[in-house]
Amino acid sequence: MTILILGGTGKTGRRVADRLTALNLPVRIGSRSGVPPFDWYDRATWEPALDGVTAAYLSYYPDLAFPGACENIKAFTDLAVRNGVRRLVLLSGRGEPEAQASERIVQESGARWTIVRCSWFMQNFSEDFLFEQVREGVIALPAADVPEPFVDVDDIADVAAAALSQQGHGDTLYELTGPRLLTFQEVAGELSKATGREIAFVRVTAEEYVAGAVAHGVPQEAAEGLARLFTDILDGRNAQVADGVRQALGRPARDFTAFAHANAQVWH
Ligand SMILES: NC(=O)c1ccc[n+]([C@@H]2O[C@H](COP(=O)([O-])OP(=O)(O)OC[C@H]3O[C@@H](n4cnc5c(N)ncnc54)[C@H](OP(=O)(O)O)[C@@H]3O)[C@@H](O)[C@H]2O)c1
Repeated sequence: MTILILGGTGKTGRRVADRLTALNLPVRIGSRSGVPPFDWYDRATWEPALDGVTAAYLSYYPDLAFPGACENIKAFTDLAVRNGVRRLVLLSGRGEPEAQASERIVQESGARWTIVRCSWFMQNFSEDFLFEQVREGVIALPAADVPEPFVDVDDIADVAAAALSQQGHGDTLYELTGPRLLTFQEVAGELSKATGREIAFVRVTAEEYVAGAVAHGVPQEAAEGLARLFTDILDGRNAQVADGVRQALGRPARDFTAFAHANAQVWH
């Protein structure tokens, strides 16, 4: 009856695991540091991680929009269902054709599925690739003046944990966003107010962004992939809020202002 949490040490997976553990449900972390280890790029690790597993949270690494993701999702879900997995929850991204291809694979897997299709995470600013920039006071991105309804990963974890532990979320796609559209300029304003420090937004070209990220130790390929997410997907296609949090949980989504204030100390 074990629930496998892929990416179980990451921003969403860690929170999903905490919620299920608090419900006394048996959880296995599926990541390179898990026991047994799970590695998307070493298929020999997949079957041991699936031993005794009946449900799984699929958080892909690095991103469902990156090359090879679809093939891995297909091979993993086939193996999972053959090994007795009956319930799959896929973490997906909005407006990404490659992510939507992975959604279809999970929907057709034969398991009961839930898709959590998310906007950009608020916690990218506090726990991921934008953390250093915020701490240093300049968010420099190849982002157009297009608003995005950033979502709090605590909301994602609440929905995913509900889908893995309760009835009523099967064969359902939840589109999860925050309650408000914000440009990166407005995000910088919110973070300035919350921290009491000036945090600026500076628009750079994709080439400048990649060069800066590589200089900070990000591998070239990963930096180029991130730049593509800004130039390809942040084009206005996702500039509307959705009500998946309310549909799944019966309450509103958390707002960016609350996130910024709750995390203000993190950037000091
Ligand atoms: N960031 C956003 O704004 C956003 C928006 C929508 C959707 N998404 C989706 O979110 C997913 C990422 O989820 P997240 O942000 O919760 O995770 P995350 O914080 O990026 O954490 C990465 C997780 O993956 C594990 N991992 C790293 N390399 C691995 C490998 N080779 N094999 C297996 N596991 C590996 C890490 O643990 P170990 O180091 O122990 O292996 C960790 O648990 C992506 O698929 C992305 O498409 C992100």
